[in-house]
Amino acid sequence: MAAPIEDLEPPVLVVNYKVYPTALGERALSLTRELEEAAASYPDATLAIAPSHPDVGAVAQASDLPVLAQHADGHRPGSGTGRVLPESLSDRGAIGSLINHAERQVTEKEANRSVDRLTEKGMAVIACAEDVEVTRTMASLEPTYVAMEPPELIGGDVSVTSADPGIIEDSLEAAQEIDPDARILCGAGVKDAEDVAKARDLGAEGVLVASGVTKAEDPTQAARDLLRGAVEPAATLEGSEK
Ligand code: G3P
Repeated sequence: MAAPIEDLEPPVLVVNYKVYPTALGERALSLTRELEEAAASYPDATLAIAPSHPDVGAVAQASDLPVLAQHADGHRPGSGTGRVLPESLSDRGAIGSLINHAERQVTEKEANRSVDRLTEKGMAVIACAEDVEVTRTMASLEPTYVAMEPPELIGGDVSVTSADPGIIEDSLEAAQEIDPDARILCGAGVKDAEDVAKARDLGAEGVLVASGVTKAEDPTQAARDLLRGAVEPAATLEGSEK
């Protein structure tokens, strides 16, 4: 059974709050309000947000943006100290979760269990992959999206779309060899509309971004620019004002 896509229709911009100080606690709420402003200008794109676990409930309660967790375990209620269950996340308003992010990696067995449990709860899954091989593994689990993020480019200034465009095309091909319906996102170093438009040109259905928004002086403007890249044809972006 494949994970549902209804709440994450492409093109997608996922803003991962990670544990940036600008995106925790009260600041998670104010950042979310700023992102809502940006999303309102681009109704044809999906802007989803991934706050840290302690903020999921408050953020989901305060916002209509689709909320993802940054990680979910495949455990069932019962023993499992420190585990984060899909049903707890769903009860708090999350519509899905990232799994296997480069900063929160799991074994293939754990990824499999997480995807199964999230899917069983009707939740979306973005399964992250650090290379083409892991993309294949994640695609075989039938998540909503596989997200290709080369770890060495995460948090940097050079976008994966410029540094290694081939890895996005190769990942899409590898994922669709395993599952012809597989969809991919990409991320790492993505900062502006051109990066997002290029990701789409390379076959991605959207992007994951963190520092480009959480460290921006004006997160609303940063997100608007990224969303512009998600909806406008790449040709119209060249040379245009931000
Ligand atoms: O999940 C998105 C993330 O890993 C990308 O981070 O800071 O390179 O946009 P960043």
